[in-house]
Amino acid sequence: MKYFYTFLFLLFTFLLTSCSEQEKPELIMVTNATFPPYEYVQNGRIDGIDPCIIKRIADRLGYQLKIQDMSFDSVIAAVQSGKAHVAASGITVTEERKKQVAFSIPYVIAKQVIIVPENSPIKNSTELKGKRIGVQHGTTGDLYVTEKIQNPERFTHGPLAVAALIAAKLDAVVVDSEPAEVYISQRKNLKILDEPLTYEEYAFAINRKNKELLDKFNRELQSMQKSGELKNIIDEYKSRHSANAADNKVESDTFFGKLGASFRINFIKENRYQYLLKGFFNTIHITFFSLILGIVIGFGVAIVRSTADLTGKMKLADFFCRIYLTVIRGTPVVVQLLIIYFVIFRSIDVDKIFVAIIAFGINSGAYVAEIIRSGIMSIDKGQMEAGRSLGLSYFQTMNQIILPQAFKNVLPALGNEFIVLLKETSVAGYIALDDLTKGGDIIRSQTYDAFLPLAAVALIYLIVVVCLSKLLGLLEKRLNKNE
Ligand code: ARG
Repeated sequence: MKYFYTFLFLLFTFLLTSCSEQEKPELIMVTNATFPPYEYVQNGRIDGIDPCIIKRIADRLGYQLKIQDMSFDSVIAAVQSGKAHVAASGITVTEERKKQVAFSIPYVIAKQVIIVPENSPIKNSTELKGKRIGVQHGTTGDLYVTEKIQNPERFTHGPLAVAALIAAKLDAVVVDSEPAEVYISQRKNLKILDEPLTYEEYAFAINRKNKELLDKFNRELQSMQKSGELKNIIDEYKSRHSANAADNKVESDTFFGKLGASFRINFIKENRYQYLLKGFFNTIHITFFSLILGIVIGFGVAIVRSTADLTGKMKLADFFCRIYLTVIRGTPVVVQLLIIYFVIFRSIDVDKIFVAIIAFGINSGAYVAEIIRSGIMSIDKGQMEAGRSLGLSYFQTMNQIILPQAFKNVLPALGNEFIVLLKETSVAGYIALDDLTKGGDIIRSQTYDAFLPLAAVALIYLIVVVCLSKLLGLLEKRLNKNE
């Protein structure tokens, strides 16, 4: 009885606390925070003109704001599929996009511009033809260049394109003018051409079915426009950026001087190393649990498959296992991850780490299954017969005689699969999950430096893989000794 009351008490307090948190309804905003001054990450927080405006609107409407960072080409889809209420990401209103989402009244007039190196022979847009042009994937800059000039080189975000321009991998970059100002102010030797390519308007995207929210947004925006609040926010963020401009410039001429300065900018300044640290823990977290899921699935499937092969039983289960193996091994893991996130968990709000574990676990399970099956098949048939004639059942023999030997034989192959799995999780950034690779990416988007962030990410993976191999080697030795 005492336990029962304690239980009731706990349940009650739990309900109470979870209720008070739910008091304010949530407003989920999606963005791509690589677009200063509109949205960017600073000290691990998403800030900028868009988050600031939406926060004010959310406060007034009595919502609790939750911001999610993702790739730019996913923000509209997120609103359309109901995963988010509003996309605020310096989004230009276009006819194509209007078919998918509803737009608020515009809050900024913007333009597309061309960035080139200071000594570039390119003087205007007519000279872009045949040159290497970089854009951010899925943006209006991308559309413009694709339609009017040629197929551009598409980068996941603007700063990566600018980094490629600095590394002389491109001749020009086409982006929105205000981010362009910020990008070039942080680097020497770049300039913006005078002639703009297009004029456009930014607005917030809201689900077409949510007329009510759209009306509320428009009302608030209008009143912010009238009171001058909107202009104040925009001016405030713009001036903040021109003040910070010189920060990322590396002013040194010796090799080690440059390296040291670059190290400070990439890792120490604004505690940027924390992106790597957080990413590292997420990567390990995902790898560890997918590994376990993969092993569970793998053993199950392998046993079904080999039982069907050896005894002719479990035909139906075998059939489904074969389909699973064919589909999973026949399609890329990124595509599986995207399908699980955007299609299967379409309108359910689940933790991304959980989604990643499911996706990588299911994927790895297919490979583990075949590895273990090959181990089972490599054990002499006589062993099964011997076990059975000793009076053991089929599954007892499998469990106590075949599987332990099979496991030992395939350990090197399994170890290899774990290493592959660890590195494969590096595509988790596609669902905007902050894993180790993405951590390096975030740093690159802030510092436009390719070398150090990538080198650090590579080094961390390498260290983990070396440790993992050592551990597996030890395990193998142990198993051999036990024999
Ligand atoms: N205005 C452009 C567009 O709508 C680019 C926006 C990019 N925004 C961003 N947060 N990266 O296509």
